[in-house]
Amino acid sequence: MPGFPPYLGELVSAIAEFAEGTGVELRGFTDEYGALVAGWAGDAREVALLSGREEYPFPADLIRSWRKIDPDIQSYLFFAGDQPVGYGEVWLDDEEVELARLIVDPSERGKGIGAELVRALLKPAIAAGHPDIFLRVRSDNAVAIKTYLNVGFVDVSQQEMDEWNAGQPVAYRWMRYATG
Ligand SMILES: CC(C)(COP(=O)(O)OP(=O)(O)OC[C@H]1O[C@@H](n2cnc3c(N)ncnc32)[C@H](O)[C@@H]1OP(=O)(O)O)[C@@H](O)C(=O)NCCC(=O)NCCS
Repeated sequence: MPGFPPYLGELVSAIAEFAEGTGVELRGFTDEYGALVAGWAGDAREVALLSGREEYPFPADLIRSWRKIDPDIQSYLFFAGDQPVGYGEVWLDDEEVELARLIVDPSERGKGIGAELVRALLKPAIAAGHPDIFLRVRSDNAVAIKTYLNVGFVDVSQQEMDEWNAGQPVAYRWMRYATG
């Protein structure tokens, strides 16, 4: 996996091994799936989630290049058998780790895959060694919030919420998963 630290390949293989038998596995994202994942965005908000641009349909110039390449961002595809059904990112920095840009194939939503995707992403996130994993979600995204609650995320305190929303384009609902 060019650009990724060498331990990441081993980590992804370990996760795949762990998931063997359940029929689902997390794999490192490869660019040939860019257009497929872009096609999962069903409205302008979902396009914005992936590409940063709030417009629909998905901007043609971004279909193969929407993914942000950065050494601090790990991108994953979630497979059910041979079929890619979900996408998500783990954002790492020295102080914290955040799950981001989670999306499930619209034809596969509502079957528990979102929750499984979050649980799978927690493994590389936890491996980063921080006490908490965070994520931000729009407060009107009831399905996503329910998915995160189901996995064990809880709201951060109101004070943290206010601090972290200062300077954000919208007031997000910030959630935390305690690893300890
Ligand atoms: C959010 C998302 C990843 C969830 O994936 P999913 O596969 O549908 O998730 P699950 O099936 O595991 O869980 C969905 C939960 O929402 C619940 N739900 C469905 N509609 C709901 C509604 N209108 N209000 C509240 N909860 C709702 C379901 O009942 C289910 O909870 P349950 O298992 O306790 O019954 C998926 O909907 C998606 O890709 N959305 C578009 C992108 C997005 O918003 N990503 C999140 C960005 S922070």
